[in-house]
Amino acid sequence: MITGRQCFLSSPQDQGPQLTTSLSQTHADAIAALRAVLPGDALLTGEEEMARYGRDVTGDHVGRPLAVARPRTVEEVSTIMRHCWQAGLRVVPQGGLTGLVGAAVPAPEGEVVVSLERMTAVRRISPIDFAMVVEAGCILEEAKKAADAVDCLLPITFGAQGSCRVGGNVSTNAGGFNVLRYGMTRDLVLGLEVVLPDGRVWNGLKVLRKDNRGYDLKQLFIGAEGTLGIVTAIAFKLFPKPTQVETALVGLASVEDAMELYARARRACSDLLTAFELILRDGIEVTLRARPDLPDPLSEPYPAYVLIEASAGGAVDLRGLMESFLGGADDIVRDGVLASSRAQGERLWLYRETMVESQGRGGRYLRTDVSVPISDIAGFIARALAAVRAKHPEAMPLAYGHVGDGNVHFNVIPPRGQDPAAMETLFHSAEELIFDVVDRLGGSISAEHGIGRVKQHAFLERIDPVSLDLATRLKLALDPTRILSNGRILPEDPVV
Ligand code: LAC
Ligand code: ZN
Repeated sequence: MITGRQCFLSSPQDQGPQLTTSLSQTHADAIAALRAVLPGDALLTGEEEMARYGRDVTGDHVGRPLAVARPRTVEEVSTIMRHCWQAGLRVVPQGGLTGLVGAAVPAPEGEVVVSLERMTAVRRISPIDFAMVVEAGCILEEAKKAADAVDCLLPITFGAQGSCRVGGNVSTNAGGFNVLRYGMTRDLVLGLEVVLPDGRVWNGLKVLRKDNRGYDLKQLFIGAEGTLGIVTAIAFKLFPKPTQVETALVGLASVEDAMELYARARRACSDLLTAFELILRDGIEVTLRARPDLPDPLSEPYPAYVLIEASAGGAVDLRGLMESFLGGADDIVRDGVLASSRAQGERLWLYRETMVESQGRGGRYLRTDVSVPISDIAGFIARALAAVRAKHPEAMPLAYGHVGDGNVHFNVIPPRGQDPAAMETLFHSAEELIFDVVDRLGGSISAEHGIGRVKQHAFLERIDPVSLDLATRLKLALDPTRILSNGRILPEDPVV
């Protein structure tokens, strides 16, 4: 059964009756037995105390926790999984609930949530190895601070870093603002500790840079969205902490000009470019409405804005490099500001970081997270905007994102007060229009957010039979009774 699309329909009200439904006797017995093998405070079963584990940060995705286990150690995670494996209890691992595809939210029919929120330790950090070992429940920002304290950089960076947890970053192969320079989370993982569905612990926590002993098993669990095992600790690759950061926000006449600027920046700034983010004028206006404390960023409005960041250590004249790059691009840069301090640079980033929150102020909206070849970005945005505007003139399409990675968040905000059924129709129709352009350009319908439940239908519609067969065999090899995060990425009842 393909369940992806019905997730658009989930709302807190839909789940009301289910949350109060009593557990089946079998579930109740299995949960009582689980309580008996865990420390006193490790298992929550009260409806009220479990409520926050039943929905993601957007409130768009809700489900039903049968119980919430909050282990403190890998041994406790192992005990939980061994128990649930034997009892046939469905489980979903959970981090900060900031993923946007509904993967960490329990199923509507009920799952045991394993929250990693109490496994937050930095186990080890070595500036000589440029590596740190951190537990999955550590908030990303805390892990970044720990790296910073030893003059290192953990480069994963995005708006949700103050609440997402690193286990979730690994399980979703998170992207973000710095992928251009440092790669996706997958590129930053040296080793993992994972509890398998049957409760065994796979210890792959090494900090080796080179290790070609057979299959690279950690890759199985990165981006697997919790479907193959529970990541409990991660060895991350670190980098020298930049001592100089230059941030500029520039206004341009078009997306074409933004992409021309990108092509020049890649060469002019050498490998020091860390971010290249596009926001169209509509996106700036959404933010200005949601955040009256922020001024219009430049002296007049421009059709397209780009946030450019470069960073370096050592004796490089980064300021000079940025000034000469921007000065040399005055044929396309209409206006711009090069931050004169880190604080000003951080203020410029607010226009980008608050996009998710600003769009959410008016209620639900369609989110997409697509990628196309970088050379096709301008064409993609123009075609998708034209298609959505022609068919849905009442809606507001918004395109922004990590164009230096070929990754656009092409979202659609429904008109105010639209009734839920009309909204579903709009979302389905707009998504098809957008994905159709993506398909024509050989792109991906999920660049960095993953599949979860929300993108499952679109994913399964497009996957080739050999990939689906391999993925299904992998899932069934590790989790034959499908107790772990079942129904995410692959269907509930996968067939080989
Ligand atoms: C962003 C998240 C939504 O780029 O991926 O803001
Ligand atoms: Zn993004």
